Amino acid sequence: MTETQIEHAVEFRNVTKAFGKLVVLNNVSCQLPKGRTTVIVGPSGTGKSVFLKLLVGLLKPDSGTILVDGQDITRMSQQELFELRKKFGMLFQDGALFDSLTVGDNIAFPLRQHTRKKNKEIMQIVAQKLEQVGLPGIEGKLPSELSGGMRKRVGLARALALNPEIILFDEPNSGLDPVMSDAIDKLIIKTKHLTNSTFIVISHDIPGTFQIADYIVMLYKSKVIASGKVKDIQDSEHPVLKRFFARDSEMPIDPDHGTGQLDLRPYYTGQLQGG
Ligand SMILES: Nc1ncnc2c1ncn2[C@@H]1O[C@H](COP(=O)(O)OP(=O)(O)O)[C@@H](O)[C@H]1O
Ligand SMILES: [Mg+2]
Repeated sequence: MTETQIEHAVEFRNVTKAFGKLVVLNNVSCQLPKGRTTVIVGPSGTGKSVFLKLLVGLLKPDSGTILVDGQDITRMSQQELFELRKKFGMLFQDGALFDSLTVGDNIAFPLRQHTRKKNKEIMQIVAQKLEQVGLPGIEGKLPSELSGGMRKRVGLARALALNPEIILFDEPNSGLDPVMSDAIDKLIIKTKHLTNSTFIVISHDIPGTFQIADYIVMLYKSKVIASGKVKDIQDSEHPVLKRFFARDSEMPIDPDHGTGQLDLRPYYTGQLQGG
């Protein structure tokens, strides 16, 4: 497919966002294809979570345009943004469940907030979504009774509750051991097969990225330095990408973050044309 034939669920055009002197995103442009899985990768602190917050209108850019389904969300009123958010399901970095609510009430929350469905129908949807994430029948449990992996699954069930057009995942593997992490990736892939939704996943889990992504956008030093199909990114000779995806044990660790992530700064040479 050529670029002009692809429909885009999301488009950033020349988006800049700074907090005081810290320019987090500097003139970022990228297009995320509809109905596919795009993984946004980059070292810690590059603005991946900020990117998602801009996308759902929780933050406003300093300049530039953000299109969701062709609509400029940067010009929307609060009421229009409220409507827009029905299109999105979001799995937050830590699951972000309401600790005082049961699993069932957590998943029911967006349905109660955004629909007029009767409780019986809501609880049927809750049961179906729990089934879909492999946790049938745990409606009555409290989040504190669940393991980290289960909390993520419940978070995913809640993100799926409204059958959203676009599902956002902020670091779905963070805090999980490799086995659980792989299980979540498999669940994302399975869920993708069951829906036509657009998936946008933030990740620095490299093997997982290649497993789940159709497209990859690489953020680095406030810029999109590459975007394209997985294969093109995998085969790229760009030094930053090569280092990021090499999983070379000799790769430098970023001392600032202590997260075991890669410090790509020494390898940055310049822009790569996006695909
Ligand atoms: N609301 C905010 N106010 C000030 N600085 C922020 C805010 N949100 C994020 N930042 C800063 O923006 C940078 C990018 O943050 P973030 O998007 O969370 O990075 P990551 O790529 O790790 O998700 C960080 O330096 C962070 O401290
Ligand atoms: Mg983040």
